[in-house]
Amino acid sequence: MNDAIESRMTDGSRAKQAGTSSVPVIDFTAVTKSYKDKAGLDVHAMGPVDLKIEPGEFVSVVGPSGCGKSTLLRVIAGLETATGGELKRYGLPLDEPSYEVGIIFQEHVLFPWASIIENVMLPADILHLDKEAARKRAWQLLEMTGLKDFAQHRPQMLSGGMKQRAAFCRAMLSDPRFLLLDEPFGALDALTREELSLELSRLWGELGRSAFMITHDIEEAILLGDRVLVMSPRPGRIIADIKVDLPRPRSVGTAVLPRFQEIKQQVRELIFARQKDEA
Ligand SMILES: Nc1ncnc2c1ncn2[C@@H]1O[C@H](COP(=O)(O)OP(=O)(O)O)[C@@H](O)[C@H]1O
Ligand SMILES: [Mg+2]
Repeated sequence: MNDAIESRMTDGSRAKQAGTSSVPVIDFTAVTKSYKDKAGLDVHAMGPVDLKIEPGEFVSVVGPSGCGKSTLLRVIAGLETATGGELKRYGLPLDEPSYEVGIIFQEHVLFPWASIIENVMLPADILHLDKEAARKRAWQLLEMTGLKDFAQHRPQMLSGGMKQRAAFCRAMLSDPRFLLLDEPFGALDALTREELSLELSRLWGELGRSAFMITHDIEEAILLGDRVLVMSPRPGRIIADIKVDLPRPRSVGTAVLPRFQEIKQQVRELIFARQKDEA
């Protein structure tokens, strides 16, 4: 397995083209989710959602606060059970979390008493990974993200951006085929955000994986995505699926391209028109 990881890490573009298979990563039909409120009444949080994600695709999601974005991500992750619909992940019924799926949340959840390398190595125990291979991979990831010299430091000695990089390394330790990101840069300042999102874009290109990322930043959604999904207010449905036909690799220069601005305007109008409808 380790050789396969390394060849994918060094030749991600080829891995990306080939994907790991042609079966859709996600294939959802009419998926809904309701929660029970305190009184035991149903709160229709999301859907019906139809969604297909192909191997190697980076899908960004934007939508108003509380519309059900995190709910959709949690259903995709298998952390939450859907109320209705048909759910397939890699062609199989989706009913539980999988080590093939890595997740990064807005608030990095590093343990303060453990060093960075120990934090990155955590999934090795939980997922019973081969220790030697995992350690080797942890160091490779720390190197890729510029954290190698900080491996023995505790999280509190690192900046917000560095902590988020460490969270990325940890999510990638098990070599997941699919990465889920819930507002991963939400807690960072604007400059760090831009730098880190471009870095993620580059890493994602190198590693050749599929990704599903929620963000409230329209520019970030476009900069990283192959597609931008726009969700309606709760119960969130996908009201637009916009193809981002911008060249890769993306850079700071991408954001000044006329096509970028056109897509941004399109997304803004979709969100804004909806908000006016609701008012
Ligand atoms: N565990 C839960 N129990 C009850 N209601 C929930 C739960 N999680 C989310 N909700 C409700 O579902 C709706 C969608 O939430 P969420 O998916 O977190 O939205 P978003 O991520 O788009 O801000 C909200 O109205 C929220 O209050
Ligand atoms: Mg959310």
